[in-house]
Amino acid sequence: MNYFLRSEKLYLRSISLEDVTQRYLNWVNHPTVTKGLVTGTYPSELSALRNYVQGCIESQSTIMFAICTTEDDLHIGNIKLDQFDHLARTAELGIMIGDADYWGKGYGSDACQLVLDYARDTLNLRKVSLTVFSNNPAAIRLYEKLGFEREGTLKNHIFADGNYHDKVWMSFFLT
Ligand SMILES: CC(C)(COP(=O)(O)OP(=O)(O)OC[C@H]1O[C@@H](n2cnc3c(N)ncnc32)[C@H](O)[C@@H]1OP(=O)(O)O)[C@@H](O)C(=O)NCCC(=O)NCCS
Repeated sequence: MNYFLRSEKLYLRSISLEDVTQRYLNWVNHPTVTKGLVTGTYPSELSALRNYVQGCIESQSTIMFAICTTEDDLHIGNIKLDQFDHLARTAELGIMIGDADYWGKGYGSDACQLVLDYARDTLNLRKVSLTVFSNNPAAIRLYEKLGFEREGTLKNHIFADGNYHDKVWMSFFLT
């Protein structure tokens, strides 16, 4: 197990191009997984996904981790920090547990908590923000449970599943 951060049930390690498999591609093309994401509006193919991950790996302004189970070393999703503002000491968080078998079992909570602790204790960040769509109650519940607060709402801002939904800006103060 080659971990960078870990909890009892999962560990986070740098994402690599070897993680860009048909299994990962299926996540971003699965309507249930992408229901609350911009990803999934258009079909993805392996080469585009590889370019995206390659871009994240090379970027100085994105930190992306593969989320893996401790029990069987299975890659179940990704979590990232980007949009760093080093003066204001802020960044934005994004998470996808792509393997729906692992939803509702605390993996999302654990992964976010590890990254928030890392953002505070290692990166010396002050505030982490994210956007979430109102048609994604699981994500909103997760973020509220972690202590994120709603700071603003763009009403009927996105179109998905034949309807308009709000885009909610949420933040967590680390200090
Ligand atoms: C959103 C997501 C990260 C949540 O991860 P998870 O591992 O399922 O979350 P957890 O198991 O840690 O649960 C966190 C809380 O959300 C709640 N929750 C989980 N699924 C839910 C659902 N469908 N509806 C309402 N609440 C839900 C849990 O009950 C838990 O609260 P509780 O402890 O009070 O019961 C995961 O579902 C996911 O990656 N979905 C696809 C991609 C996505 O939408 N990413 C977020 C974009 S903003």
